[in-house]
Formats: sequence, C-alpha cells, structure tokens
Amino acid sequence: MTHDQTSEPAAPTKRPRVAVYPGSFDPITNGHVDIIERGSRLFDRIVVAVLANEAKTPLFSAAERVQIIREVFRGRDNVEVDTFDGGLLVDYAERKGASVIVRGLRAVSDFEYEFQMALMNRRLDHDIETVFMMPAEQYTYTSSRLIKEVFRLGGEVRGLVPPLVEDRLRSKQAMLRDPRSAPRHA
Ligand code: PNS
Repeated sequence: MTHDQTSEPAAPTKRPRVAVYPGSFDPITNGHVDIIERGSRLFDRIVVAVLANEAKTPLFSAAERVQIIREVFRGRDNVEVDTFDGGLLVDYAERKGASVIVRGLRAVSDFEYEFQMALMNRRLDHDIETVFMMPAEQYTYTSSRLIKEVFRLGGEVRGLVPPLVEDRLRSKQAMLRDPRSAPRHA
C-alpha cells in the first residue's frame, strides 16, 4: 500500500495554554509558591500578575514584590512575573494571551469572595476560565496579612515564606524603625 505523505492532515498547531495568577503578593508566601509550582506544571506558561495598586498601602512596593518573586522563581522558564495596574483583570489576561485565571482556595472562608470574582470575570469575558487550586495542607492557614502581623510582633514565620522573604521582612522592619538604615536591596 502506498502512503502519500502529502495527503496527511496538517497537525493542528497547539496554542500554548497561558494562565494568569493575580494577587497582591505582599509578600509572597509558601502557599503562593506552591500554587505557582502546581500551575507551572499544568500550564505552558503562568504569569504571576502583581497588583500594583498603591492605594492598598502595601508593605513592599510593586517593584520589590516583583523582584522577590522573580528571585524565588529564577531559572523557571515558564514562570513570568509582571505587574498589573489595577484595570480589569480580564483585559490584562487578554493582553497576555491567557485563557485561564488561577486563584488559590485555602478554606471555605475564601470561597464566597472568590466565587463572586470568578462569576464576575466570566460575565466580563466568557472565554476566560477561572481555575481554583488548593495549596498543600500545611499552608491552608497562611496569608500575607498574617505573615506580616506575626513578623511585626516578633513571631516565627520560618517555613511559611521563602527564606528571601524573611530577609526582606527583616530589612524592611529595620528600615521602618530607622529610616536612615540603608536598604540592602535597592
Ligand atoms: O491577592 P488579592 O489581593 O486577593 O488579589 C485580588 C485581585 C488582584 C485578584 C483582585 O483585586 C482583582 O482581580 N483586581 C482587578 C480588578 C477587576 O478586574 N475587578 C473586577 C472583577 S472581580
């Protein structure tokens, strides 16, 4: 039997599956790291979109948060870290060629807010799907807000944030106590 190669149907060109993982990440926790790692295995590319809304008076500036996350994921080619200016998330996702929004779900208490956002985003853009991912159990109670509070009050956060974040929290605290102390990481 002859086999005419020219009649083979062209292999469909697969569009890379891009996901956006938006958040404040002030600072990134090991729960976020866990979600990014899971997402990077599931999608061709995951864009960590750091909300640059200074109205939320973050502890770390958007540039600092981006720099920290880039450092944590250095060498991970399919993890991109970017800032997101506070416009509509679906518009940002569209600009990045993303068809998925990733959000972490830690506990039932997260659900209501996340459910509202997911349905609103779906209403705004039907082509973008929200995917919820659960971090490892040991991070279900970790949040950036609690990390900052515990650290500020002298508690131990080791194991809940990347070591780099612990360093940056220490420098930030020293700087806030004594603004003349030169930041080690400009
Ligand atoms: O980590 P956070 O602070 O809970 O992240 C919140 C974030 C950035 C995902 C949310 O504030 C957001 O999506 N902002 C974009 C504004 C928007 O698109 N709003 C309408 C859809 S809900």
